[in-house]
Amino acid sequence: MDLEELERTARALVAPGKGILAADESTGTIKKRFESIGLSSTEENRRAYREMLFTTLGMEQFISGVILFDETIRQSTAGGVAFTKVLEGAGIIPGIKVDAGAKPLAGFPGEQVTEGLDGLRERLAEYRELGARFTKWRAVITIGEGIPAQTCIDANAEALGRFAALSQEAGLVPIVEPETLMDGDHTIDRHYDATRRTLEALFDRLFAHRVELTGTLLKTNMVLSGKSAAEQAGVEEVARWTLRVLSECVPAAVPGIVFLSGGQADEAATAHLSEMNRIGGVPWQLSFSYGRALQAPALKAWAGQLENVTAGQAALHHRAKLNSAARTGRYTPDMEDAAA
Ligand code: 13P
Repeated sequence: MDLEELERTARALVAPGKGILAADESTGTIKKRFESIGLSSTEENRRAYREMLFTTLGMEQFISGVILFDETIRQSTAGGVAFTKVLEGAGIIPGIKVDAGAKPLAGFPGEQVTEGLDGLRERLAEYRELGARFTKWRAVITIGEGIPAQTCIDANAEALGRFAALSQEAGLVPIVEPETLMDGDHTIDRHYDATRRTLEALFDRLFAHRVELTGTLLKTNMVLSGKSAAEQAGVEEVARWTLRVLSECVPAAVPGIVFLSGGQADEAATAHLSEMNRIGGVPWQLSFSYGRALQAPALKAWAGQLENVTAGQAALHHRAKLNSAARTGRYTPDMEDAAA
């Protein structure tokens, strides 16, 4: 393992003003996203959609890396240029989602454990060959009646530790992603509590597996009120709770924390990130690795039509630019009105 290379890559991914575009929707997830615009999920439609995103001019001012899915890392533009080459050409680092998805955890109704460790060493070697320089593994923690159980948290943390160690062995920066879901009607302090238990277990297992934190990025949820809770915490409250849990659990050696959007409205995800950076005073870069919060307006504007490619790219560029402003705490809602 070349730790210096891992550290360089990790720092480049959270370079000032930049964040990550998560475009690693699995086949099942992209099908759901396409259904929202009435488009069937064929391999060609998936390829055309990703080509639209990745060829957005000027995106590299705001986007440091893109997370790809197994199918996508093997695809090319209509003109025959591999997506990895398109990204590298723009100075954007290609990454890859390597987990095999969250599956029901036996004996724990309503809880999930992420699979994908079998054969991972061989797959990582191939992904590096294909151009990937970082990886992602997502664990899902659900809040509900009597859950999350500690067994679920621990099983997921152990898998994240093994994934991260294997990634570093292969010369790839691991993005460890424990997502404590915002689904439910819980209060914000319950989300804080479940997030805290999850992050404590995660770092315990990262240490146990001898993962180099300076060559690792944390991708996690913000601390929020449950999506269907009657009372919703405001922007400042979300920022304070989130900074609190991160300060309690995340060692300063981690170069950056990249948030997932997790079903927040895109403008809310931007406002929350900006507020945290405005408050500041933390040892890590606070950045984004949004899927929906970057792509949703682009997907809608594109709507599967060739003539809408420019409109889709303008929508992506706009959201990327505003999230870049949020990296320095300078985002304000009136920036939304500026023409995309
Ligand atoms: P969202 O921002 O849509 O939550 O997606 C990020 C991601 O990569 C989830 O694994």
